[in-house]
Amino acid sequence: MVRMVSDPNSPHFWQESYRNGRTAWDLGYPTPVFARLAQSGSYLPGKMIVLGAGRGYDARLFAQHGFEVLAVDFASDAVVAMHMHNDPQHPVQVLQADMFKLPETMNGRFDYVLEYVCFCAIDPSRRDEFAALTARLLKPGGLYITLAFPIGRRAGGPPFVIQPDAIIEQFSAHGFSLHHREFPPDSILSRQKIEELLILKRD
Ligand SMILES: C[S@@+](CC[C@H](N)C(=O)[O-])C[C@H]1O[C@@H](n2cnc3c(N)ncnc32)[C@H](O)[C@@H]1O
Repeated sequence: MVRMVSDPNSPHFWQESYRNGRTAWDLGYPTPVFARLAQSGSYLPGKMIVLGAGRGYDARLFAQHGFEVLAVDFASDAVVAMHMHNDPQHPVQVLQADMFKLPETMNGRFDYVLEYVCFCAIDPSRRDEFAALTARLLKPGGLYITLAFPIGRRAGGPPFVIQPDAIIEQFSAHGFSLHHREFPPDSILSRQKIEELLILKRD
């Protein structure tokens, strides 16, 4: 009998998803929204940590634009894929770890925390812990960049639905203020209007 792991706090849950090909979230390429940001020149290359990086498309995108990128994921198949597809000309540093257990030596080290389809992957009861994690990883003035997805109102998950206003409020309690928000015109078709780009600045 196959035992299913149903706890999204466990790396085994995500590892089973990768192993069994249940990866509907996986675009197979970087989101065009982040590609636009990376190309825009509005966000200067700096130290970036990508949380719940999956197979690393977005991490590699920013590395190719001169960012110094650390990509974190706790599922071994995701980490193997990131190592396999790493670009030696623009390497991403890959770390297999539970993001909630990142060492304190990383505190204040990053100019950017980037995340896509990760906030909605964690147990909603840990969202405040996630905001605190983001706050501690960033330098003062650093940016949390998220394409907040999927906007909605229904029970269950993952993905656990999000409401952008609630995210902004939750992060403001950890010293963030809103820097930019938009419904991106270049979201992939199936995610138009159900994802919003949020960029929050740490005080
Ligand atoms: C829905 S997938 C999204 C992956 C990637 N961001 C993408 O868009 O393709 C969520 C990812 O977060 C990772 N993840 C979830 N909780 C984590 C944790 N506590 N620490 C590290 N990685 C985690 C999972 O292993 C999985 O690869």
